[in-house]
Amino acid sequence: MIEPNTITAGDSIKILSRLTEPVADLIFADPPFNIGYKYDVYEDRKQYDEYYEWTEKWMKVCVEKALKPTGSFWVAIGDEYAAEVRVIARKLGLTLRNWVIWHYTFGQSTKKKFARSHAHLFYWVKDPKKFTFNDMAVRIPSARQTTYGDSRANPKGKVPDDVWSFSRVCGTFHERVKWHPCQMPERLLERVVKVSANPGELVLDPFSGSGTTCVAAARLKRQYVGIDLSAKYVRNAKKRIADTLAGLRKGTEIAENPATLRAQRKVNKKAKTSGRKSSKKKSSQANKTRGLFD
Ligand SMILES: C[S@@+](CC[C@H](N)C(=O)[O-])C[C@H]1O[C@@H](n2cnc3c(N)ncnc32)[C@H](O)[C@@H]1O
Repeated sequence: MIEPNTITAGDSIKILSRLTEPVADLIFADPPFNIGYKYDVYEDRKQYDEYYEWTEKWMKVCVEKALKPTGSFWVAIGDEYAAEVRVIARKLGLTLRNWVIWHYTFGQSTKKKFARSHAHLFYWVKDPKKFTFNDMAVRIPSARQTTYGDSRANPKGKVPDDVWSFSRVCGTFHERVKWHPCQMPERLLERVVKVSANPGELVLDPFSGSGTTCVAAARLKRQYVGIDLSAKYVRNAKKRIADTLAGLRKGTEIAENPATLRAQRKVNKKAKTSGRKSSKKKSSQANKTRGLFD
């Protein structure tokens, strides 16, 4: 049994193997990429076969033991093992819904080849017909609204494309914790949580690290379960969640793509102004779109 709204120190394969029934509506897994990051406990430089077999094991236990039949499974991975992860998921019988590219700025600058500025975000479901996809929760302003002034634009915006631009969490950001080497942006996790889990449902992160997925889930009123090998990361992540819920941590707006934020503000402002000017009937219409992209 796994208690909701907890983060546990331990090996996620062992912990999840003990489950007697699936618990997760959404699993978001951001495993170590096997590229030599310096973690507290985990050694991130394994032989190819060892890492591959380990990947097969944790993906299998997530899918077969933890994920509900209507659940969604997201995995973040680098170029080095993206192909392998894709093939393992196919063997596990998952249906790929999107292969999202997370494009980030603040990549390293290079001289002899192009700089890496992306990671892969796989999005699968167990049942291709029954799954949660809350499109209204993740819509963004369309180019028709922001650029072309096209009156046919859907005022509700559009579902984002499959290339997502979110900055990495840089050292200068309020959001950055100092005790974990590779923290994901909360904004990115918020999009995943909003689209794939309903309020009250359970989000599982088997490699919770600094606790980003759990923070996003808690903030969005979903339940969360995090697991990490490091007792120190678990201790600190719990504090991060408590501080977030107590309103002690600043918002994370800075991590959102600035262009998207600007576009969202522009559309919201327009909706507000037209709401003020128009008749009662029209303004009730505008109310429906006002603050849509907050
Ligand atoms: C890439 S980091 C996750 C970062 C996280 N997404 C965040 O935003 O902070 C991977 C994490 O997996 C943990 N880890 C490695 N092997 C594990 C295992 N077998 N069970 C649970 N956690 C593990 C590491 O300690 C590390 O914190």
